Amino acid sequence: MNAPLTLSEPIAPIAFEPEDDAIIRFESVSKRFPARNGQPFVAALHEVDLSVSRGSILGVIGRSGAGKSTLIRLVNGLERPSAGRVVVDGLEISSKSEAELRAARRSISMIFQHFNLLSSRTAAENVALPLEVAGADGAAIRRRVEELLDLVGLSDKRDRYPAELSGGQKQRVGIARALATNPKVLLSDEATSALDPETTRSILELLARINRELDLTILLITHEMSVIRSIAREVAVLDAGRIVEQGDVFDIFTRPRHPVTRSFLSEETGRALPPSLVKHLLPKPVPGGQTVLRIAFRGAFATEPVIARLARDEAIEANIVAGTVDEIAGRPFGALVVTVPSGPETERALNFLHSEFGLGTEVLGHVA
Ligand SMILES: Nc1ncnc2c1ncn2[C@@H]1O[C@H](COP(=O)(O)OP(=O)(O)O)[C@@H](O)[C@H]1O
Ligand SMILES: [Mg+2]
Repeated sequence: MNAPLTLSEPIAPIAFEPEDDAIIRFESVSKRFPARNGQPFVAALHEVDLSVSRGSILGVIGRSGAGKSTLIRLVNGLERPSAGRVVVDGLEISSKSEAELRAARRSISMIFQHFNLLSSRTAAENVALPLEVAGADGAAIRRRVEELLDLVGLSDKRDRYPAELSGGQKQRVGIARALATNPKVLLSDEATSALDPETTRSILELLARINRELDLTILLITHEMSVIRSIAREVAVLDAGRIVEQGDVFDIFTRPRHPVTRSFLSEETGRALPPSLVKHLLPKPVPGGQTVLRIAFRGAFATEPVIARLARDEAIEANIVAGTVDEIAGRPFGALVVTVPSGPETERALNFLHSEFGLGTEVLGHVA
């Protein structure tokens, strides 16, 4: 279960930027890597259209090899598209020279899964690096570094070397370093994938705060749905180089349409299932057996009447085997896992839940 992020809900209504105020725009971008070692070429991205609005946090989720890192590396020009355009803050990144890209990268920073800190430099010296490269003077650098270390809560670790810091602290240094040159865009490539859940949460809270307070746009890629769920308002689902679903996080994860999106959700539900049930889950129904359904509840919703009405109106006995209440993008979202008799009852239950309550359902499997 996830406690709500304390940083998520703004009190004042948000003034939405107009649609066309996209700070990052992918226009029909394809990326192919050349053939090598007798292997055919790799189509890493295929006609990707994506826009990230200024000041937002957009999450891109996908399996390993889906093309996430390629997508994010196109934003700061570490990769160039084979076709299409990538525009960041009015600048066509895909057509810039290496020198122009170096300048542009001051306003497009990145944080990494393995932090990429220099082990021979202290926390403060790591944060100072981009400022030194940019040619800032010593006093200005010292002032800015203290400010940044304070922002990420690491002032007391300024003279520690990376080897003396925990994973979460190292990522805080990475974030401070990324913010040194006052970027407009922060790219995050699996920045919490090497961290435990608790530390992940604290880093995501820090990113949410930075997004709000510094008005920084964040493009975050991950293979973990829990990351998207807790920080992003918008999500794009990437599968084999294509964006298969895109939109509001709550809508997409409470009514997933694409099988890949569903599979991310089932994994989360799967973790809440009793292991004894998971062990006995079968792909096909067995005569006289039970079918396991996941029912998604959006918003505050009482579950008892649903089960009671199934029994009363349809004479279907549903047994509750698991239930979770979570938050997606700051809104409550519940999942109830029930078993119903396999066979025609299953179909009737699904229809009833949909027509009477408008509930989304999914068959997780069957048991004998
Ligand atoms: N430099 C490269 N040369 C050849 N193939 C690459 C290169 N970089 C990535 N790929 C291939 O492109 C596909 C997408 O990779 P990547 O963007 O790293 O995916 P993800 O980050 O989602 O795991 C994979 O099939 C990968 O092997
Ligand atoms: Mg990757």
